Amino acid sequence: MTVFKWVGSKRTVAAQIQAHLPRTFNTYIEPCCGSAAVFWSLPRDRQRRAILNDINANIVNTYKLIRDHHARISSSLSTLREQYIACMTSGKHVLRALYATQCDVFNRWASASPRPRGIAKRLAACAAFIFVNQCAWGSVYRENKRGQFNVPFGPPQNNIAGVPVRLQELAQEVFPKLSELLRKNDVRLTCESVFDVLKAARPHDMVFIDPPYAPHRPGSFTQYSATGFSWVDHVRLCDAVKVMTGRDIYVMLTYADTPDIRRLYKGFTIKQLMYTTTKRKDIMIMNYDAAD
Ligand SMILES: C[S@@+](CC[C@H](N)C(=O)[O-])C[C@H]1O[C@@H](n2cnc3c(N)ncnc32)[C@H](O)[C@@H]1O
Repeated sequence: MTVFKWVGSKRTVAAQIQAHLPRTFNTYIEPCCGSAAVFWSLPRDRQRRAILNDINANIVNTYKLIRDHHARISSSLSTLREQYIACMTSGKHVLRALYATQCDVFNRWASASPRPRGIAKRLAACAAFIFVNQCAWGSVYRENKRGQFNVPFGPPQNNIAGVPVRLQELAQEVFPKLSELLRKNDVRLTCESVFDVLKAARPHDMVFIDPPYAPHRPGSFTQYSATGFSWVDHVRLCDAVKVMTGRDIYVMLTYADTPDIRRLYKGFTIKQLMYTTTKRKDIMIMNYDAAD
């Protein structure tokens, strides 16, 4: 039940991650949530108290707007869906033009300083963001140095006809469910650096961290934000995990299976994540004993 298609999404391995969470915990904290695939797939009783955080303000704002105004976003998205269907018969270049217009709507709002206050403009930018995410090449979210989204048109698997189906599913099924979940539970949505969010963790909380890869891994996508996440950040993150371990806070971190990350987390419980559709090799690193 994710809103976004997100590079590095844990959607296909969410069940394996869930199976390795402790039997009980207090608050669930996801400091690099992106599409939050693991959180959305948790059983209801594990979603009651949570903090979802990402450095990407657009993601966090979208979740807040879905919580508070899902019917209006659904309606804007349905309009965009109709426009998309009307353009489909005219060819890819017309779809590309529609996509470019929505990228503009989103970027104008995202780079305005100060941002326009009216809710109508916020909702239009939010619908545009969701729309372009569904149509962007490889579903990548990438910003240029000015912080503007700059990914070309290219729906997943070049499945142009799949986009309206997905937009309808979002508007009719996903948004109402997410809105209810976020309103009925104690879920805090924050936009801070991972290091700041970790300060909120208390003993017996569960922290699931899925950080970006460091840029030294050739061929891997790392540029989620204009600033990136370096290996020095990873070393600092490992120090924070060790401090949390001393405070009885459960931590699971996922990362590519590389010698340097295994060296960094020597002494932790490490298990492999199995992907059936890609050659990707990731691991779960835990500071507690986990089920097999
Ligand atoms: C690998 S993705 C997480 C994917 C997520 N697990 C999912 O299922 O979609 C990493 C996320 O970390 C976020 N991020 C990057 N730097 C960050 C930072 N310093 N603090 C918090 N989040 C950060 C990115 O915006 C991105 O959404």
